[in-house]
Amino acid sequence: MSACRFFCFLVLFGLLSCARAGQRNLSPDNLLVITAATEETDGFRRFMRTAREFNYTVKVLGLGEDWRGGDVARTVGGGQKVRWLKKELLKHSEEAELVIVFVDSYDVVLAAGPDELLAKFSRLGHRVVFSAEGFCWPDQRLASKYPQVHSGKRYLNSGGFVGFAPDLSTIVQQWKFKDDDDDQLFYTRIYLDRAQRNKFNITLDHRSQIFQNLNGAIDEVVLKFERGRARVRNVAYDTLPVVIHGNGPTKLQLNYLGNYVPTAWTYENGCGICDADLRSFEDTADEQMPLVHLAIFIEHATPFMEEFLERLATLNYPHSRLRLFIHNNVVYHEQHIQNFWQRHKSLFPSAVLVGPEENLEENQARTMAIEACRKDPDCEFFFSLDSDVALTNPDTLRILMEENKSVIAPMLSKHGKLWSNFWGALSPEGFYSRSEDYIEIVQGKRIGLWNVPYISQVYLVKGSVLRSKLSHLNLFVEEGMDPDMAFCKNVRDQGVFMFVSNRDEFGRLVASSNFNTSRLHPDLWQIFDNPLDWREKYIHENYSKIFEDQKSFVEQPCPDVYWFPAFSEKMCDQLVETMEDHGGWSGGSHKDERLAGGYENVPTVDIHMNQIGFEKEWLKFLKDYIAPVTEKLYPGYFPKAHAIMNFVVRYRPDEQPSLRPHHDSSTFTINIALNRKGVDYEGGGCRFLRYDCKVESPRKGWSFMHPGRLTHYHEGLPTTRGTRYIMVSFVDP
Ligand SMILES: *[C@@H]1O[C@H](CO)[C@@H](O)[C@H](O)[C@H]1NC(C)=O
Ligand SMILES: *[C@@H]1O[C@H](CO)[C@@H](O)[C@H](O)[C@H]1NC(C)=O
Ligand SMILES: *[C@@H]1O[C@H](CO)[C@@H](O)[C@H](O)[C@H]1NC(C)=O
Ligand SMILES: *[C@@H]1O[C@H](CO)[C@@H](O)[C@H](O)[C@H]1NC(C)=O
Ligand SMILES: *[C@@H]1O[C@H](CO)[C@@H](O)[C@H](O)[C@H]1NC(C)=O
Repeated sequence: MSACRFFCFLVLFGLLSCARAGQRNLSPDNLLVITAATEETDGFRRFMRTAREFNYTVKVLGLGEDWRGGDVARTVGGGQKVRWLKKELLKHSEEAELVIVFVDSYDVVLAAGPDELLAKFSRLGHRVVFSAEGFCWPDQRLASKYPQVHSGKRYLNSGGFVGFAPDLSTIVQQWKFKDDDDDQLFYTRIYLDRAQRNKFNITLDHRSQIFQNLNGAIDEVVLKFERGRARVRNVAYDTLPVVIHGNGPTKLQLNYLGNYVPTAWTYENGCGICDADLRSFEDTADEQMPLVHLAIFIEHATPFMEEFLERLATLNYPHSRLRLFIHNNVVYHEQHIQNFWQRHKSLFPSAVLVGPEENLEENQARTMAIEACRKDPDCEFFFSLDSDVALTNPDTLRILMEENKSVIAPMLSKHGKLWSNFWGALSPEGFYSRSEDYIEIVQGKRIGLWNVPYISQVYLVKGSVLRSKLSHLNLFVEEGMDPDMAFCKNVRDQGVFMFVSNRDEFGRLVASSNFNTSRLHPDLWQIFDNPLDWREKYIHENYSKIFEDQKSFVEQPCPDVYWFPAFSEKMCDQLVETMEDHGGWSGGSHKDERLAGGYENVPTVDIHMNQIGFEKEWLKFLKDYIAPVTEKLYPGYFPKAHAIMNFVVRYRPDEQPSLRPHHDSSTFTINIALNRKGVDYEGGGCRFLRYDCKVESPRKGWSFMHPGRLTHYHEGLPTTRGTRYIMVSFVDP
């Protein structure tokens, strides 16, 4: 400090109680943030968004220039930044009131506004403040030359500093090195030179009052939530840093924190900043919509494949703007593709289908599909969709496009499970690790767009990104990694952000591990693993209306005999086909009934559920779908939904056309018609003798439910033509 300055200082001290060098007229109008960036990476955009949010004035150096500052992620470098700064600061070297903040931008977010930054700078009481970290880099031999600190980080990091313009300008005018020389070493030498340190009144922000370098300090940093807002807090020093720097290997941690700062983000009720770059297609004519390469991967046998393929036809997107690619690696699914193709090929005129006979490995197939988009200059988006994704929201593609991100996935999970298509964090080895907010995101308790390190199964990639940042990579190949992990690693390494959105409902993941394709209709067995898909396929579409007090969906054709929709057409047909395929129809198993003290044997031609290995699944059906109806129709009765006798009965004029009067050994019985009167058979029906009441026109898929013992003595009326099938279950015997 010069004598004059010291004198002035004393005068000021006396007259204005202006205690410190920093406390001049510090006003946000006199604050300039300078950063260096050669490209607008996702990280850069994030930085600028936070700066805008707080109304910082930012000057960006180097945009559009070639980076010649070395590979700073791996080695030293960064001199180019100082060269730019040297030139820029000359413009401000006379502005004594101007405070300059220099920060990196690709791996930095701002967490508070100019007023707070200036107040903290002022409190530090120096004219120049560099950020600090726990590592002495790039020259560890300099460590012993650093002043001791009693609390906080000891070593200088040049990724962030703040100071008065004249001081900073004088400092950087000393730069006379090469672009790939190390900027941090340059500043470190100045700081370690006691004369310069005093001359420029430099200190380090040891306790992260302003600058938080995350490298080596991850455990000190937490998110503090308050009134729907979040703030990064250093718990080691109890500070709220303003500049968060994901230096060194901490980029992913910054991505995580970046999901929550700046504070305008309200994490409970949707997100305040997600809408910033939204792109709208509202007024876009069909033929003007972006061209999307839609790539389907069927890499393993998957339940509900017909439904999956059918959804491609009902996507709410102009099919003329889709280029379909299907890689099917499963012989069993060829039938499904063929059926789909026969019905919908006109929708997808220039589709490419690659079957199992081509013997393509998964990564080769994925590469082939993504290459097609990369090489097609008109390909604006690449949409990758695996067979175990049930995208029930037909607008998914459009919604994701509107989010306007380089890489984005719709958030999906297995029904009722925490298993999802993204990871919130990575372990040091690059595998799954649970982030603090993972469960809340999967369960939709926090809603937004999330920058995550891993996505899979379904994602949208901008074609322009494939043709630029990701252009030179074999995205799906990486030593010792599956294609999905290789893809994410490559994308991450290029500094391209991957987002997952749970702002809308998109659908779910289908579980395929217990899928047994040696069965005729294996989806029937999926009631446990994929209950929603099962329901959509096998339960009558009007079943749920039973509970909406719409009388027309529960009829009472005879006293205490209820009639309601239960099975879908598919359920009826597949059950009959399964039985006929199994064969071994037997008489004599419909054994009833304890009547007037004696047994009566009423034989039917039938096949029992346990014969086809469907007992467990059937009981689950009774519990999930029949018990609730019982509770509604017979109030006060809570069925255990046990059933020992569950079987499909076949009636034919030449075999067994009818069933003589009997009681059922059940508390109540359900009886579901599996085919259609007038089409598949004539005759049939049921008569309840006590009430002399007949139901002669069973409806396919509809179930009767009636009490079994005592009151409902009944008979099966003769089938006069064709074959009639019914499904019978004696519930709570
Ligand atoms: C930024 O400036 C705008 C308009 O000048 C103002 O409405 C907004 O509140 C400011 N934001 C902050 C964080 O100060
Ligand atoms: C920096 O300036 C302040 C105020 O003038 C003074 O108290 C402090 O001792 C100076 N620090 C150094 C290292 O010169
Ligand atoms: C979409 O994002 C890009 C950056 O990736 C941005 O330049 C563009 O303005 C955004 N589009 C809209 C409509 O906001
Ligand atoms: C698959 O189904 C067949 C009957 O079609 C059965 O014999 C076999 O045990 C089942 N396999 C598994 C693993 O459940
Ligand atoms: C379901 O109910 C609606 C309205 O009554 C009817 O139009 C439709 O055909 C029913 N669905 C089936 C599969 O019967």
